[in-house]
Amino acid sequence: MQDGCAGADPPPSLCRGCRRLLGTSPPTVKLREKIAKAGAATCPVLIVGETGVGKELVARAIHDCSARRDRPFVPIDCAALVPSLIESELFGHVRGAFSGAELTRHGLLEAADGGTVFLDEIGELAVGCQAKLLRTLQEHEVRPVGSTRCIRLWARIIAATNRDLEEGVRLGNFRRDLYYRLNVFRICVPTLLERRADIPQLVAHFLEKTGENPTPPFSDEAMACLVAYGWPGNVRELENVVQSTAAQASGPVLETGDLPVQIARSREPIPFEQAVEGLRECLTLRELERRAVGRAIEKTGGNVLEAAKRLGIGKTTLYRKLKEIRVLSY
Ligand SMILES: Nc1ncnc2c1ncn2[C@@H]1O[C@H](COP(=O)(O)OP(=O)(O)OP(=O)(O)O)[C@@H](O)[C@H]1O
Ligand SMILES: [Mg+2]
Repeated sequence: MQDGCAGADPPPSLCRGCRRLLGTSPPTVKLREKIAKAGAATCPVLIVGETGVGKELVARAIHDCSARRDRPFVPIDCAALVPSLIESELFGHVRGAFSGAELTRHGLLEAADGGTVFLDEIGELAVGCQAKLLRTLQEHEVRPVGSTRCIRLWARIIAATNRDLEEGVRLGNFRRDLYYRLNVFRICVPTLLERRADIPQLVAHFLEKTGENPTPPFSDEAMACLVAYGWPGNVRELENVVQSTAAQASGPVLETGDLPVQIARSREPIPFEQAVEGLRECLTLRELERRAVGRAIEKTGGNVLEAAKRLGIGKTTLYRKLKEIRVLSY
């Protein structure tokens, strides 16, 4: 493990991966602490978090913090694997194992060779393949398709998902034993809303990445909108918005009007007429609630945590209400 990956003030000794993970908010500092601990350990890691929060970045940072940093980091997108070829991709195959297998081929697990295998979207892995992966993790060996011989597995496994794996286990889509095997060192990557304070630094970084020279800055008001927005697509969505706004800018400063409309409106209060329209129409309380919830979800771009804050209720209560009134598409 390299020293100093856990501080709020990035010291020069920060590992390459942690240096790329920007932000100084308390949740980000805590995340770096966890990454440093995971880097020092050797057990499997399960990274969970919403889409676009930076799960792959975290996986690479763990690898970079670990003693394996000079060995390969092999990302595998389980959702993109062709079902009929999953086993051969992961475990390799011997010549003649199936029609078309003209040559012996090493699998991705073996290719990582002392490094780290990053199993992204692990929740998408076919159930049949889960059993074989479990065996690999338990025995630390890989058996190529069509072979009777096992090969020692030296790679460390890091898996990630934006799915609720516990739910997958309950529904029978994900093996309970594999879940326990992977869920040894769990890292929950916070949403962008939970680390709102990092937004200005991330924006500056993404602006710089556009390569424009000079890079037009955001006005204070536009930045306030970026900070206030709900970001259902998290850091990836922020990156895309910064890029597209900068690319289409007309003046030397990026103004609120240059932002996508739902973001530009994120600081506007709900107009009074809208808020009381239900009262004028003499709607039932239940319908009023349905509309208020629907509007909050719409205003926050589908971010439940932010919508709950605006409605002045807890996240769990809002989830319950959403279930009750099925308002998601309102
Ligand atoms: N803290 C951060 N600092 C700098 N860049 C970040 C940070 N977090 C995420 N990013 C950037 O945001 C983008 C999305 O990150 P990443 O691909 O790791 O997310 P993910 O959680 O794997 O998303 P998905 O669930 O959609 O696969 C990447 O370009 C990444 O570099
Ligand atoms: Mg990813």
